[in-house]
Amino acid sequence: MKFENLNAVISGGASGLGFATAKRFVEAGGSVALLDVNEEQGQAAVKELGDKAIFVQTDVTSEEAVNGAVAQAVEKFGRIDVAVACAGIIGAGKVLSRKGPMPSDFFAKVISVNLVGTFNLFKAAAEKMAENEAREDGERGLLVSTASVAAFEGQIGQAAYSASKGGVSSMMLPMAREFSKIGVRAVSIAPGIFYTPMMEGLPEEVQESLNKQIPFPSRMGKPEEFGQMVEAVCENINLNGTTIRLDGGIRMQAK
Ligand SMILES: NC(=O)c1ccc[n+]([C@@H]2O[C@H](COP(=O)([O-])OP(=O)(O)OC[C@H]3O[C@@H](n4cnc5c(N)ncnc54)[C@H](O)[C@@H]3O)[C@@H](O)[C@H]2O)c1
Repeated sequence: MKFENLNAVISGGASGLGFATAKRFVEAGGSVALLDVNEEQGQAAVKELGDKAIFVQTDVTSEEAVNGAVAQAVEKFGRIDVAVACAGIIGAGKVLSRKGPMPSDFFAKVISVNLVGTFNLFKAAAEKMAENEAREDGERGLLVSTASVAAFEGQIGQAAYSASKGGVSSMMLPMAREFSKIGVRAVSIAPGIFYTPMMEGLPEEVQESLNKQIPFPSRMGKPEEFGQMVEAVCENINLNGTTIRLDGGIRMQAK
């Protein structure tokens, strides 16, 4: 689909990669609904984006809340073309740490936000997209998830996060296959290391060491480069049921 005047729902849209993506849609004449738990940041984001953006405070782990937010977006914009799932938490921790084994509640929380949250958004969005009038090429919508290179080379301390992102990556193909009937694509982007509030908090020496591990360009990705990839995925109808690494060539080591 042409990256012009598209309506998008974006989870985690109040910050980092989600916000940069929202900016890109709005710059291209589109409208965005930002779904995020962070009310303060959500309001600030909408203020910056202008009247093409709405914020709906949403916890993606709540099926009901996500259904309501997606319905609100459809009511406001008439239709939604793209759903981008960016809401996520790092959920770092060793399986066996000095404090003892990781509580399974903690593991389940990471799965719930990163994986179930993405599922909740996509099923709600796909149901609405099925009602869209098809474009000339038969396309009715697009689902873009955010995995991570940790889906493939998780480091020590990333068992929960990697499991969640592996799940996100794996469910794209069955969704793409199922939704072929309705003309909805499903694609995942697996970022390497991007400079977002998630990373800004890290000590400078850790940031430098991370930068050195990226072959080229030897710096963290810029959030707008993630937005650029979402644009490319929108534009190229052949991208479907797959995960695209966006990582400057990094292959994460064990620690
Ligand atoms: N920054 C990176 O290097 C990097 C690398 C790989 C993958 N990712 C993934 O990219 C996505 C975006 O990360 P980011 O770096 O922009 O982080 P970020 O912290 O800037 O943004 C994440 C957003 O998700 C929201 N969120 C958290 N829990 C939520 C919930 N339950 N319901 C709704 N919203 C919730 C937060 O409020 C925040 O606004 C995440 O899924 C993350 O795992 C990031």
